[in-house]
Amino acid sequence: MVSTDRQTLEELLAPFGQEHLLRFWERLTATEQERLATQIQAIDWKQVSGWIHDALGETGTTAIPFERLSPAPYVSLKPKTDDEATRLREAVEAGERLLRNGKVACFTVAGGQGTRLGFNAPKGTYCFSPLRNKSLFQYFAEAILRNQEKYETILPWYIMTSPANHDDTIRFFEQHLFFGLDEKNVRFFIQGTLPGFSQDGKALLETPGCLALFANGHGGTFAAVRDSGTLDDLDARGIEYLSYWQVDNPMVTVCDPLFIGLHHLTGSEMSSRCLVKRDAMEKLGHFTLLDGRLMIVEYSDMPKNLLEKRDADGQLTFRPGSPAIHILSRDFIRRLTAGTFALKPHRANKKIQFVDEAGNLVTPESPNGVKLEFFIFDALPLARNPLILEADRNEEFAAIKNATGNDSPESCRAALLERTAHWLEMAGVTVPRDSQGTPAAKFEISLRRAVDAADVEKLVKAGEIPSSFEAGECFCLD
Ligand code: UTP
Repeated sequence: MVSTDRQTLEELLAPFGQEHLLRFWERLTATEQERLATQIQAIDWKQVSGWIHDALGETGTTAIPFERLSPAPYVSLKPKTDDEATRLREAVEAGERLLRNGKVACFTVAGGQGTRLGFNAPKGTYCFSPLRNKSLFQYFAEAILRNQEKYETILPWYIMTSPANHDDTIRFFEQHLFFGLDEKNVRFFIQGTLPGFSQDGKALLETPGCLALFANGHGGTFAAVRDSGTLDDLDARGIEYLSYWQVDNPMVTVCDPLFIGLHHLTGSEMSSRCLVKRDAMEKLGHFTLLDGRLMIVEYSDMPKNLLEKRDADGQLTFRPGSPAIHILSRDFIRRLTAGTFALKPHRANKKIQFVDEAGNLVTPESPNGVKLEFFIFDALPLARNPLILEADRNEEFAAIKNATGNDSPESCRAALLERTAHWLEMAGVTVPRDSQGTPAAKFEISLRRAVDAADVEKLVKAGEIPSSFEAGECFCLD
């Protein structure tokens, strides 16, 4: 029951120095007062004050004892022994079995704001594909459709949105008739929010009667899965494993039997793919061990000497980086969220619009505030038997983060083109390449038809894909 009594609210906020949130109380309408009171009472101020206090007190990297850090071991995609090869083969078989038996669901986090891309709509609705200009959501939907066909199963798809983009996301799926997926197998749920703060720890108002609230990071997944009833839905459908990816990586293998099978056979509660970093400066979180326990150290927290450190063979020492591709066990989410458990949020310095003491809206030009965000990978050290499996960058990762340059729509299209060319060449198709080795023809084969090289080979054999291409040619298969 929400109280709209000013004194009650003041008593709630005062111990945490947040009573300024009631500054405009008297001039709010009854509806506005009720909304603000609801927002204020939905927050555990004791917990949030502790978080913001810690976040503001942090001096960045000093919290980590770097001298005790070593790189985390990972399962290589290239087995060195017969036993390793057997293990990988058995994992693929186990993964395929789990997929066929309906034990796996797809899971996409899509609650972010996509500020770096500068796209003012849910990022999943961003159209980027080389020839057909398909959206990220369509890409994933087509991959799911093909996998459903391949494993003769249903792959429910759970999509985490935020209050800011939930309605627009659903509308997009409705407008596109769920891209051919059965609507009842696509479930959207909203992640939680946390207030934005000034640099001195005061919660900010977005309007006189409304807190500045922001999505609480991809690590908000755990609480959101519990609070939205998604855990119950997973139970009802008999789903044991979630294949997790971020909305901005259209190259992801939406359900990889090898990864799922290894996760299962290892008895892991949470597993991650890792990329061998391209170079020391590539901005990926690092999988490390601290006193034998897994820990992900953000790129920005890693000192330069460790970023650049090399083994005797010349490879980067801290080379396993995170592309944010995971398998989560349903029972892990249940265990993790059963009690008072909470991950600790990270600090992000951001530009936050707010109303000042005089009630004027301020639009800052540089970061003026602090957002708190949970990170999904902070759960990895809490999992039993966490597993890290190498990912093949050329097959599985090309993120769209920035408008231009690295990790942009353009670099992603180039990676997709190269992957398709490679699949075609593996199937014996002649692909023209320029003097730099870049494919000189353009292709877009729908993931609905082919999610891997084996699928492409079948299409070539069936005559749906020609056996050679000319330079400058464009080829689409829908
Ligand atoms: P990013 O960390 O790249 O953030 O999210 P972003 O908000 O999409 O982009 P920028 O930083 O504003 O440019 C990585 C993934 O985590 C999801 C995003 O949707 C993306 O899939 N995410 C991020 C959430 O689901 N919720 C959040 O609160 C934050």
